[in-house]
Amino acid sequence: MTTRRDLLLQAAMFSALPGLGFAQTRGLSLPLEPTPACGESRDATPRQTEGPFYTPRPPQTANLREPDMAGIPLRIGGLVLDRRCRPVGDVMVDVWQADAAGQYDNAGYRLRGHQFSDGDGRWRFETILPGVYPGRTRHIHVKLRPPRGDVLTTQLYFPDEPGNARDRIFDRRLLVQMGGDETAKIARYDFVLDVG
Ligand SMILES: [Fe+2]
Repeated sequence: MTTRRDLLLQAAMFSALPGLGFAQTRGLSLPLEPTPACGESRDATPRQTEGPFYTPRPPQTANLREPDMAGIPLRIGGLVLDRRCRPVGDVMVDVWQADAAGQYDNAGYRLRGHQFSDGDGRWRFETILPGVYPGRTRHIHVKLRPPRGDVLTTQLYFPDEPGNARDRIFDRRLLVQMGGDETAKIARYDFVLDVG
């Protein structure tokens, strides 16, 4: 069920934000440019390893950021599209990430959660910028479960990170578009499922 709070979060995610670029997609004003541009047909989002820290059945929530949580607030979202750039709704988007100190919560569900893309293919989470841990650059893990078709497991990366060049599985096709400042960040990524 969509609550008033959900609608407000959605409005905040997709409303105009000062200082950021905008793209019009199906009449919606989205922060930042689409990643990458839609053409006749697009390659599907690359798959990546799940890694050792996935916990099944995370809670359904779009807000992973707790009131006392350390770290720079991050609003991350975008679209889920098929290979012909059509939005895909009802996709379970499941994310998990390290906290600001680079630690995963492997006992509970802190900084873990899922929600569903809406009828326009939009997804979004309120979270924090993940911390870095040894051996990896900064990243967020994601699984997308479409109503039909294969699960996509991958990771998202952040631009201008010194660790990107040293990370053996980093893939620039998985870079988010980034905006904001040192007090709050906003990031966009459009997933392309291998359907359509
Ligand atoms: Fe990780």
